[in-house]
Amino acid sequence: MTIEEKLASAFPSAEEVPAEFRAAAVEQKDYLINGRIKAWTGPRRDVLSPVGLRGKKGPERVRLGSYPLMTQKEALEALDAAAAAYDEGRGLWPTLSVEARIAHMEEFVWRMKEKRAEVVSLLMWEIGKSYEDSRKEFDRTVEYIADTIAALKELDRNSSRLSVTQGIIAQIKRAPLGVVLCMGPYNYPLNETFTTLIPAILMGNTVVFKPPKYGVLLHRPLLEAFRDSFPRGVVNTIYGEGSKIIGPIMKTGKVNVLAFIGSSRVADILRQQHPAPHRLRCVLGLDAKNAAIVLPDADVDLAAGECLTGALSFNGQRCTALKILFVHRSVQSEFLEKLVTAIEGLKLGMPWEPKVRITPLPEEEKPPYLAEVIADAKKHGAKVINEGGGASGGSLVYPAVIYPVNAKMRLWREEQFGPVIPVAPFSDVKEPLKYVVESNFGQQVSVFGRDMEKIAPMLDTLVNQVSRVNINSQCQRGPDVFPFTGRKDSAEGTLSVSDALRVFSIRALVAAKESDANRKLIRGILRGRKSRFLSTDFIL
Ligand code: G3H
Repeated sequence: MTIEEKLASAFPSAEEVPAEFRAAAVEQKDYLINGRIKAWTGPRRDVLSPVGLRGKKGPERVRLGSYPLMTQKEALEALDAAAAAYDEGRGLWPTLSVEARIAHMEEFVWRMKEKRAEVVSLLMWEIGKSYEDSRKEFDRTVEYIADTIAALKELDRNSSRLSVTQGIIAQIKRAPLGVVLCMGPYNYPLNETFTTLIPAILMGNTVVFKPPKYGVLLHRPLLEAFRDSFPRGVVNTIYGEGSKIIGPIMKTGKVNVLAFIGSSRVADILRQQHPAPHRLRCVLGLDAKNAAIVLPDADVDLAAGECLTGALSFNGQRCTALKILFVHRSVQSEFLEKLVTAIEGLKLGMPWEPKVRITPLPEEEKPPYLAEVIADAKKHGAKVINEGGGASGGSLVYPAVIYPVNAKMRLWREEQFGPVIPVAPFSDVKEPLKYVVESNFGQQVSVFGRDMEKIAPMLDTLVNQVSRVNINSQCQRGPDVFPFTGRKDSAEGTLSVSDALRVFSIRALVAAKESDANRKLIRGILRGRKSRFLSTDFIL
């Protein structure tokens, strides 16, 4: 069977979708605002799955339901609810003890776990992520919440004592920042949204959150859990077109933190809309074009395997994906042969199929975009070296290995975010290093080789270009306790289980000169448990 035939026959008929994986339509006619799930009677947008069913004219995208297309009015209402709940730091939530906030979060995660099956199914249908990876995304998020709670307990324990320095008694803790606007990306619509949302809430901030363009409905099963687990106004949701509802929110100047994972172009627009940018803290996960550098002495089997996973997990739709491979000329033939053979072994199909690796892409414009950049590479002298590479059928695109790529090609600099693997040969390691130095992106890099004399100096150059250098392995975010950030256009602020608690808070202290009167006053406050901040209570 040719690749084109495989692509065409990959889409099932309605009857062929296994009963346990059939999607039940979700018509979302409500949203969470100020502790209430409010009815929405305005216009809604249909959600179409990247998964299509075989039809006369080819695969037809399955309609999964719809969600509210809100206007500026409701967006501003949500913002006002968050601002009122924060009440300039005097609200119930920002003044609650850490222990009490943790109890609310534990209630939420308990309720969230009950919705696992619904959320996982929607994840799979909305963005085409395999069933296995959709489950992993859900479980990783639950684990992230548990780890964040543990990290916060530790943080709080470490600040439960007073210090006396140069005649000043002080207690230093972390305090919230205000209203956080959270927006995650479509490739990890649950996990990456929650990696900012959860620490933001836990630190005492209040939140407005907008799900990404794809991966909206999967948040609906969690609305009741948000409503019932937190005081009113702490979590508010908005839906609709970013350009219509986010701009007005930013222009009010009421957003204290922008937590955004997406493109640097959009991040720049949003930041500039804020009337007092110096008051706005930005926590951003942005563009990336992570490179792999395969040295002459690399274990080629291992390098090809890691590059395959690095470039094609979730069809290359990861910010951490390997998006260009530099391969030393002495090993290029062997490397390319192994890479192409490995691609031939990848299973293509629908997300519920066991071990499936190539699945439908959610963005309708992605297959034509990928065809465009492949055509551009061909125009400048590259070839698609694997059979069927770049072929598309409906929302499926068969991975393409493009070789040899050079600086004239769009694939040299554009983040393809899809199943296209550009490979550039090199003779001198200075060539890929120059690429990394001159790149606008600075997230991660992978180096494959065995000679410590060659690798060590590369590490010293690369750690000043990117924020993580992976030796003999693909790029990745995890484990989530590791810092996740980037330089240049790739990120602002650092996320990890413990760093996220820091970025959504500020250090604040209570200090007093060491006089008898002050000692008496502080002792009285502590013994009488009269303040939530000035307190030596220890969370057990
Ligand atoms: O899309 C970017 C994600 O943060 C990548 O996470 O490396 O665990 O897939 P991952």
